[in-house]
Amino acid sequence: MSPLTCRSVSWALVALAVGMTRRNAEAAPRMTVNKDPNCGCCSGWVEHVRGAGFDTLVNEVNDLAPLKSRLSIPPSLASCHTAQVDGYVIEGHVPASAIRRLLSERPEATGLAVPGMPVGSPGMEVPGGPEETYDVFLFGPAGQKVYAKYQGTKELKVQH
Ligand code: CU
Ligand code: CU
Repeated sequence: MSPLTCRSVSWALVALAVGMTRRNAEAAPRMTVNKDPNCGCCSGWVEHVRGAGFDTLVNEVNDLAPLKSRLSIPPSLASCHTAQVDGYVIEGHVPASAIRRLLSERPEATGLAVPGMPVGSPGMEVPGGPEETYDVFLFGPAGQKVYAKYQGTKELKVQH
């Protein structure tokens, strides 16, 4: 191989690498998770979304109540941590697959919420414990509705 061809090949590889990085960034936009520094289940959830490929920034906040009201999270849907991703609010232990669906469907809404802290939801696993069935709500100015039903990280079919 001549030195010239060799250089062309390396430039092609650089271009390929740059292209791949850009595609990955598109696949999972940067997420910011606002959480209490002492919240263990919040850290469990951060691991879950990181494991699913989300580029996650953690912001430790001692009092999340002002942020939750600023982001118009209905008190009935409140949970422990509050995340923000690509213009949406993610409240509580929402499974990563539901967030991916939200980001691909892009409905007109404020975001998704799993109120309370259902046992078995991502970050709320109890070894050998029961896995509750729980709802993921889509909420916004137009109100709220069930977006998906889950048990653990498994989506359940919604009966119509
Ligand atoms: Cu929690
Ligand atoms: Cu949390």
